[in-house]
Amino acid sequence: MANIQILVGTTSGNTEFLADHAADLLKQQSFDVELHYEPNLSAIDQTQPWLIFIASHGAGDYADSMLDFHQQLLDSSGLKAFPYTVIAIGESCYDTYCAAGRDIDQRLDNLGANRFSDRLEIDMLQDDPEIMVENQISFWIEKLRSYTQK
Ligand SMILES: Cc1cc2nc3c(=O)[nH]c(=O)nc-3n(C[C@H](O)[C@H](O)[C@H](O)COP(=O)(O)O)c2cc1C
Repeated sequence: MANIQILVGTTSGNTEFLADHAADLLKQQSFDVELHYEPNLSAIDQTQPWLIFIASHGAGDYADSMLDFHQQLLDSSGLKAFPYTVIAIGESCYDTYCAAGRDIDQRLDNLGANRFSDRLEIDMLQDDPEIMVENQISFWIEKLRSYTQK
């Protein structure tokens, strides 16, 4: 069974709360989960699937806990072809709505990782974030199971 790597990009904690909720749901389905609250590229298993929860801050910048990770990606020349998906957190009142999530999604794709599900964008002004994750989780699990059974 996959050991899912959950990366958390948060400044004020909302995204961490959501990532923890997703981790609990995955554990209930017998997945192993590793949470990275301050992701460090060299410490994340590139043979396992990644779920990236990332809030936008500033003017579409990565949230604080992922600033170092952002630089590590900029410095990287390539990644393994691990499966990943992005959960982008933001507020639709910003011109740069979910810009950090959009950026990391494109960046991981460019570096050779393998998007297994379209990015989920959560508007904290309008959406219920927990319900959105709960609605998506069975689809992710189905995809992740098919990866790990190969
Ligand atoms: C100073 C500030 C700047 C923000 N900039 C953006 C932005 O550029 N784009 C966006 O979609 N949301 C933006 N947001 C909204 C945050 O992404 C949203 O509040 C989110 O819930 C924060 O998650 P966190 O608690 O995990 O840090 C901003 C919020 C703050 C307080």
